Amino acid sequence: MNLLIINGPNLNLLGKREPSIYGSETFDDYLSKLSVEFADDSIDYFQSNSEGDIINKIHSDGFSVDGLIINAGAYTHTSVAIADAISAIQSPVIEVHISNVHKREAYRHKSFLSAVCLGVIAGFGLDSYRLAIEAFKKTV
Ligand code: DQA
Repeated sequence: MNLLIINGPNLNLLGKREPSIYGSETFDDYLSKLSVEFADDSIDYFQSNSEGDIINKIHSDGFSVDGLIINAGAYTHTSVAIADAISAIQSPVIEVHISNVHKREAYRHKSFLSAVCLGVIAGFGLDSYRLAIEAFKKTV
């Protein structure tokens, strides 16, 4: 499968950022493990702290990849524009969160993205991304 992972704001700091919530592994290290585990698949990666860049990437790849995995970070809870971009494309999208957002502050309980995604995986640390890949491999 051709898959794309999009990470949103502050997720470039994984490994350093609030390790008690997000763990101490960098995303690059985790991605290297994923590429070994899913060696038969292609897993592209894009990270941006800018809402517009995330939307442009959804537009450019969202008609060709077999599946898109997005952790939009805090934009999850604020961005109608990213939700509209997901609605506009053809590739199926899984929303992912490292932490269990429902155990956290109330403002993290609302997601503008969930209603336009195939499914949501949250709370399994970085393994949330691996679970999303497995979900795509079983369902798409
Ligand atoms: C997050 C949860 C969001 O509420 C937060 O703003 C993030 C990361 C997660 O992966 O747990 O940046 O999406």
